[in-house]
Formats: sequence, C-alpha cells, structure tokens
Amino acid sequence: MERASSQENSYIFDTESAVEMARLIDQARFMNREIGGALTGLPELAPNSHVLDLGCGPGGWVLDVAFEYPDITITGIDISEIMVAYAQARTRTQKLSNAIFAVMDITKPLDLPDNSFDMINARLLTGVLKRETWSSLIDECTRILRSGGFLCLTEGNEFGISMSPAYEELTGYIMQATWRVGYGFSPHGRNWAMAPALPYLLRRGGYRDIHLNSYITDYSAHTPAWIDYYRNNETIFLQIKPLLLAFNLLTSEAFDQLYQRALIEMNSSEFTCVAQAIRAWGYVSKNS
Ligand SMILES: C[S@@+](CC[C@H](N)C(=O)[O-])C[C@H]1O[C@@H](n2cnc3c(N)ncnc32)[C@H](O)[C@@H]1O
Repeated sequence: MERASSQENSYIFDTESAVEMARLIDQARFMNREIGGALTGLPELAPNSHVLDLGCGPGGWVLDVAFEYPDITITGIDISEIMVAYAQARTRTQKLSNAIFAVMDITKPLDLPDNSFDMINARLLTGVLKRETWSSLIDECTRILRSGGFLCLTEGNEFGISMSPAYEELTGYIMQATWRVGYGFSPHGRNWAMAPALPYLLRRGGYRDIHLNSYITDYSAHTPAWIDYYRNNETIFLQIKPLLLAFNLLTSEAFDQLYQRALIEMNSSEFTCVAQAIRAWGYVSKNS
C-alpha cells in the first residue's frame, strides 16, 4: 500500500500530535458507549465479512468490532502514522488476528481493490473532508464495496447545545471558523448541517434503502457523561485557538478569557449540554 503524507492533509488538527491521539482514544471510548455497540442497529454481517473503517484514528471502533466479532476481518486506515502505530500495537497486545491497520489518505483514490468490502464505516470526518471532497470519497466506497454491501456515516451536526453563555459563544466561533475552512454543508455556518447532508450524499451516490438515526446524550453537570465531554472540549478548544485567531474572530487575550469562562461554566453545577450524533447508512447499488 502506498504511503500517505500527513503534511498535506486537510484535518483540522495535527494528525501526528500525541495530545490529539489521546483525545481520540477517549472520544472513541465514549462514542462507542453512547451509540451502544459498534454494530448495533446495522444489518448483520455474515462470518468472513470484510469491514473497512475510514479515518480510524487510534483504532477504537475497529478494535471493538474485531474483539466482538472474531469471524469478521476489519481494516482501519488513517493518515496518521502515530495513530496507526498505536492501533497496531493494541492489535498485538489484545492478540486480535482479525484487525489490520494501514496509513492511507482518504482524500485520494484508495489503494484498495474493487468489490472487496461488505461494510464501510466512516465516523467523525466533518473536520477531515472539505464539503467538495465527500462525494469523491463516497464514489470510492461504491467502487470497493461488494454488491449487497453498505456504507455507514456517523457525524455530529453541531457542538452540543447549552444554556451557558460563554460555552455557546465559543462554540459559535468554532462553527464559523470550521465553516470558513470549508467543513460541513451549512449555507451560513450556524451548524455543520450533517444531518441533512449524510442521507443526501448517500442518495446522490446511488445508495438505496437509506436509514437515518440519531443518538442524543446529556452531558450536563452531574450526568455520568459530563467528565468525558468536559475533557474532550478542554482539548478541542485549546487546539482550535490558532484557527480562530487566523480568521480574526477574536484576539488571543479575548480567546483566553472566553476559554476560562467556558471552563468555569462547564464546571458549574448549573451546566447544561445535550449533543447529538447522526448516523445514516444505505446499501450500495451495483449494476454488475
Ligand atoms: C475526528 S477523528 C475520527 C477518528 C475515528 N473515526 C473515530 O470515530 O474515533 C478524524 C481522523 O481522521 C484522520 N485523518 C485526517 N485526515 C485524513 C486523511 N486525509 N486521510 C485519512 N485519515 C485522515 C485523523 O488522523 C483522525 O484520526
């Protein structure tokens, strides 16, 4: 398989950052929990099926599938060399012979054979794929899926919605900045509009029998999920600061003050926040 360069990738964060990798390890753990099982609600896969995960990060979803379904072979691809190396190390320590990881750039033609997968999974790629690149990736999925196979896309539509002012202000700036970079399908950047975009992209790609589900989680103070959301956002906010400054949305000092206020709000017993993950999946249509 050809090697990809993480220097030229379109990810919102540094793909070779240990901080980002640690965040993704945690995020996959709580996303897997919130969605309630790696393959829950999806068509049953026959023994010896082949599954592919696009932008797999440190491999949280892949390793869960490999562990739960020893009869399935699952491949994870990601542009990050450190994340793929970490996932490969976990594969060895967990003695999982059915999980494979490779470095690959999903914005380029995939170095994978035609008609070779029964399911393709893609989760949380809004900050990876600019809006104009989604369709070519979906076309690549069509090429490498077997007839009868399906593609499953899971994304957030926006940051969690809160009643806390500094948190809302800061996440509003993040929405604006990410939209200006070219992420999401909103006409104005108020959210990422991934809820309507996912089934639209599948339909436009010729997929059929499209299903749409949403998973809602309460991250408010005193909920079991609060600590995960707090830690995740603490890291996201700091990593995204240079982007907000690059678009002149606020000064460095104003960001620092807003960040501190948002953390104080999130630590308050009054903090409210609900976030939604949207999942759309459909079957590939093949003429032959
Ligand atoms: C938000 S993370 C999602 C990780 C994983 N899908 C999950 O749900 O836990 C996005 C991932 O895409 C990877 N990525 C960024 N640009 C990429 C590219 N051009 N090709 C492949 N992977 C890429 C990043 O390294 C990161 O691991």
